Amino acid sequence: QERTFIAVKPDGVQRGLIGEIIKRFEARGYKMVAGKLIWAPKDLLKNHYKDLADKPFYNGLVEYMSSGPVFAMVWEGKEVVKMGRQMLGATNPLASMPGTIRGDFGIDVGRNICHGSDAVETARREIALWFKEEELSDYEFANKSWIYE
Ligand code: GTP
Ligand code: MG
Repeated sequence: QERTFIAVKPDGVQRGLIGEIIKRFEARGYKMVAGKLIWAPKDLLKNHYKDLADKPFYNGLVEYMSSGPVFAMVWEGKEVVKMGRQMLGATNPLASMPGTIRGDFGIDVGRNICHGSDAVETARREIALWFKEEELSDYEFANKSWIYE
């Protein structure tokens, strides 16, 4: 099964949105296989966002992401990388549809509440970066035949 890395960013944690975000992925039928509150060190965040190192907002982004704890998660299920991105909404909350997490709760791109891996390969890299193998739980939902045909 496909996995993705989803994180509630420091603004999402401060605003009490951890439960709201978990609730949406659970309600959809996705399965959490790992989750933890972590105040990420700057070197982890720089590595996480290394593809954006030459962007003008990179230093601000690392400051924002290290301004408090994040809630880091791994979610599993059919096409969860793509669907996770859809559920989060556009990078800029002002461009996000109502009904998405950013479209329902955000305004500024530099305070966009949540992170989601942008591809299956990226997800693999990010999961390995944020979690140890033993932090991931392999299990099945007892009701999985009511979620999947
Ligand atoms: P993530 O899920 O956080 O990776 O967002 P994304 O994949 O939708 O966007 P991207 O990876 O391109 O950018 C990573 C993060 O950098 C965004 O989520 C924003 O928090 C921040 N960011 C992106 N573009 C801008 C920008 O133009 N200005 C500012 N201030 N922040 C930006
Ligand atoms: Mg991204």
